[in-house]
Amino acid sequence: MELDIISYHDLLNPTHLTALQYLEAALLQKGIVGIRHIPEFESKTRAYIEAARHFSHLEDKIKQQYSPNRDVGETEGYELGAEWFKNQEGAWQIDDKKASYYAFVPDHARNKWPHEVDLKTPFLELGELIFNTGKLLLNAMGLNESVGLAHEALTGYGRMLHYHKESDVTNANPYWCGAHFDHGVFTGLMPAYYFRDGNEVDEPEEAGLYIKPTEGQEFEKINATDKSILLFQVGEFGQLISNDRIRATKHLVKKAKGGIERFTFALFYSAQDDVLIKPHSILTKDTRYAHHQLEDGSITYGKWQQASYERYRAKTPQ
Ligand SMILES: [Fe+2]
Repeated sequence: MELDIISYHDLLNPTHLTALQYLEAALLQKGIVGIRHIPEFESKTRAYIEAARHFSHLEDKIKQQYSPNRDVGETEGYELGAEWFKNQEGAWQIDDKKASYYAFVPDHARNKWPHEVDLKTPFLELGELIFNTGKLLLNAMGLNESVGLAHEALTGYGRMLHYHKESDVTNANPYWCGAHFDHGVFTGLMPAYYFRDGNEVDEPEEAGLYIKPTEGQEFEKINATDKSILLFQVGEFGQLISNDRIRATKHLVKKAKGGIERFTFALFYSAQDDVLIKPHSILTKDTRYAHHQLEDGSITYGKWQQASYERYRAKTPQ
């Protein structure tokens, strides 16, 4: 799929009508848009990738020291193979090769940071750049105070993603990340970097991010070879709060063959837990909504998020 791209300059000058119409068409018809010419984006992504690789090379037992205590509701820190999604046959499949490191952006007392590697500095610098750029995009799309989403009350949640190389080509799960929608408002995504035996390689033909266009039926690969372009997708809370005007983006990540690993970074836009909405959206039929709504049919962001975590958190087989 051809990616629609607008420039950072056009985003800063929202009176530039043609660019805005282009942006709106991209997000409404496809569910993804690229932003080019963001100052310092590429250098910050490079610095982050270096730190993420450094961290990923630490021994497992060291990385596990930074695991969140999910039992008390923590999600910050490192984890491997913690999510599952339904495959095409309707069976839950664990993303067993997907490692994550979560932290709030900007920094927050709840964040855990490794002592062995300075992951914190490049993670936060890249995260804040994406967070601030995306707010311009949210504004341009009308996702702001006008729909009850004050930008001061938005939370950025960063996620380091390290997709481990596939040692067994017959592995049952063809995806590094199974098909799903993000549950938040919006998601910023940097282009992925690939490595074989420690050397950077191009994205393999078969691998990478695929999305199902909002107005399409089949998953299509996103051409994201230009490392200077920041991507944005729509999350389910963005769909809820816009009454389905903007639809969430269904996406997946296909594995590469031949011992290749993949690194990327996602920045999720969350509302604050007490943001209350009462939308007219098909997502109100979803059990996450139906089971957590208040008597008058409204729901808080916190409940929506908690129900989403519960659904997609892999359960240990009995
Ligand atoms: Fe996602």
